[in-house]
Amino acid sequence: MSTKNIKNDLKKLKTKINLLNHKYYVLDEPEVSDYDFDILFKKLLSIEEAHPELITEDSPSQRVGSKPLSKFESVIHKEQMLSLNNVFHSSDLKLYMERTQKILGIKYDDLKFSVEPKLDGLAINLLYINGVLDVAATRGDGTTGENVTNNIKTIGSIPLKLIGKSYPETLEVRGEVFISKKGFQDINAKNNEKKFANPRNAAAGSLRQLDSKVVAKRPLDAFFYTIGYCSPKINIKTQEELLKKLSNWGFKICSLNEIVIGQNGCETYYNNIASTRNDIPYEIDGIVYKVNSLDYQDELGAVSRAPRWAIAHKFPAEEKTTIIKNVRFQVGRTGVLTPVASLEPVEVGGVIVSNATLHNMDEVIKKNINIGDKVKIRRAGDVIPEIISVVEKNKKSKKIKFPEKCPECGSSVEKVEDMAFIKCVNKYKCPAQKKGSIIHFVSKKAMDMQGIGDKLIARLVDEGIINNSSDLYKLNEDNLRNFVINTTVREDTGKEYDITLGEKSIKNILDSINSKKKVNLSNFIYSLGINEVGEVTARNLAIKFKKMDNIFNADYDQFINLKDIGPVAARNIYNFFREKNNIDNINSILESGIKFIDKDKNITNLLNNQIYVITGKLKKFSRQKLSENIIKNGGNVSNSVSKKTYALILGDDPGSKLEKAEKLGVKIINEEDFYKIIKL
Ligand code: IVH
Repeated sequence: MSTKNIKNDLKKLKTKINLLNHKYYVLDEPEVSDYDFDILFKKLLSIEEAHPELITEDSPSQRVGSKPLSKFESVIHKEQMLSLNNVFHSSDLKLYMERTQKILGIKYDDLKFSVEPKLDGLAINLLYINGVLDVAATRGDGTTGENVTNNIKTIGSIPLKLIGKSYPETLEVRGEVFISKKGFQDINAKNNEKKFANPRNAAAGSLRQLDSKVVAKRPLDAFFYTIGYCSPKINIKTQEELLKKLSNWGFKICSLNEIVIGQNGCETYYNNIASTRNDIPYEIDGIVYKVNSLDYQDELGAVSRAPRWAIAHKFPAEEKTTIIKNVRFQVGRTGVLTPVASLEPVEVGGVIVSNATLHNMDEVIKKNINIGDKVKIRRAGDVIPEIISVVEKNKKSKKIKFPEKCPECGSSVEKVEDMAFIKCVNKYKCPAQKKGSIIHFVSKKAMDMQGIGDKLIARLVDEGIINNSSDLYKLNEDNLRNFVINTTVREDTGKEYDITLGEKSIKNILDSINSKKKVNLSNFIYSLGINEVGEVTARNLAIKFKKMDNIFNADYDQFINLKDIGPVAARNIYNFFREKNNIDNINSILESGIKFIDKDKNITNLLNNQIYVITGKLKKFSRQKLSENIIKNGGNVSNSVSKKTYALILGDDPGSKLEKAEKLGVKIINEEDFYKIIKL
């Protein structure tokens, strides 16, 4: 047979198998017996074996898994993946509806919504080029995810090649990968050593397996609900049409999706699904309401990573009762003592819970909680379980005593003025505070020193090898080589033996510290762990002061005059830079050769938090670039004109936003005027 004929045969065979797969996995309507399918599949494998040069990315043979990876590569999504804001109660949903009504100028009772179960799995982004699956990535931080293409290809219901011909050249498709309730039970029944806590963890654990041959054995599945980047644009008007398109291209869509009208329609759907939740074969944790019209979605836009055209109405967190066995006090980074209850272990929402936070003293007193009481506990999502109320008092129950000494270092404790907290006063010597501040220093949003875990830090502090963050830079191979990270008992001999760090771990630790010698000033300020200074305040300080010296020399008034900094934060910052321990620690870090790369260098505060709206076609920059410039200069961008808008930036052929701005008396400026303001 000529190569051309073989190629043709192979193409037909691949199309046939892909369609049979679609019928089996997506439509749940198998067309041929497993036996007949196997014959076709074997035929494909034998042709490909004889002609490996003809194997393509979209061949069904590519689903069986490939060589294990050593790590996942990063993937930048072509368009950012947004997340959803939540509501828990009707009253909050009403506020959402009213806000939507105000922006659109349309009664929410008349508004159509696409209502969809909120699937409790992992968000995934698939990039199709000319209809062929090119890259599959996890959501990650919304901008960058991990390349899990080999793993995703093992999921039978995910098309390797889109059906039909009318798909866009470049297309990102987004949905949720999950494992059904039954699939989860099956995996756990097979898996003796390590059981997954719930279907979501099972799906996450499977998707993050480096060996795709293992993944191929896991019952992963996926539903799709939206698209990201799409070129050329497709001509559709609603979310409903979008779901239909996705289905026509071969994607599996949740069969429970519906179109409803108004808040009433949304809530009726919510109640229906909530009452049948146990019978749904996969886990869901709420309902997503999406404004159906894509034009309205555009008008509503997004605010800080969450669209205003959608909202998640979450199911109430699961609650259970159990007994408080004891209460201990945990000392945090800032020295605050948090009461934590040890509980009779109980399963809540698929997870065994044996600890719950009691928050602070006032909470304990207000809820009249004692050791031995039967209490109601709640676990919502990934948050730490909490105690809601006492359901039954125990006659023998013991009062919770607040320690007079720090349980970690034995120093005295004091009550924080006007607060419900008690704090250990031994700020720089208490091991718990030392550990907490170093853990904060290396954390992702701070210095991002990967591979330096909490346990390692705790152990290094306990052994007196490090006392503060600057000591990390003094670590060397000699300190680490004989360092005992753990002591354990041998099963065979029953003898204790020490576990030391391997050469590879030592190298990784030192590399991790040294690779972060170039940092943004804002990350560095955040890493210092000043009370009340979160990421945003740290960034504002970096923009304003530009250099560490300027911060050291600033007086209280300079801090209080900054936006978003109140008197408490300003006093904390001022005092922080007056304390010898902090000054020495920072100087020592700076001496270790830290350099500030200035991501924030080009950032100004010229626009002082003003809100800008853009309309019409722009000449100099794309809308995206102009938005970035506004944000870089300390302004905000909104998609709709309101009383809060500082100015409307006018391009050619402006839309209805111009009318609205005129009506509300909002300042209108043209592109050139704006560039003058930001000195471009
Ligand atoms: S839409 C712009 N629809 O919820 C909104 N998300 O909290 C993009 N999710 O990351 C998401 N079911 O992982 C959408 N029917 C559904 C969903 C859904 C589950 C997840 C998704 C997203 C998270 C946001």
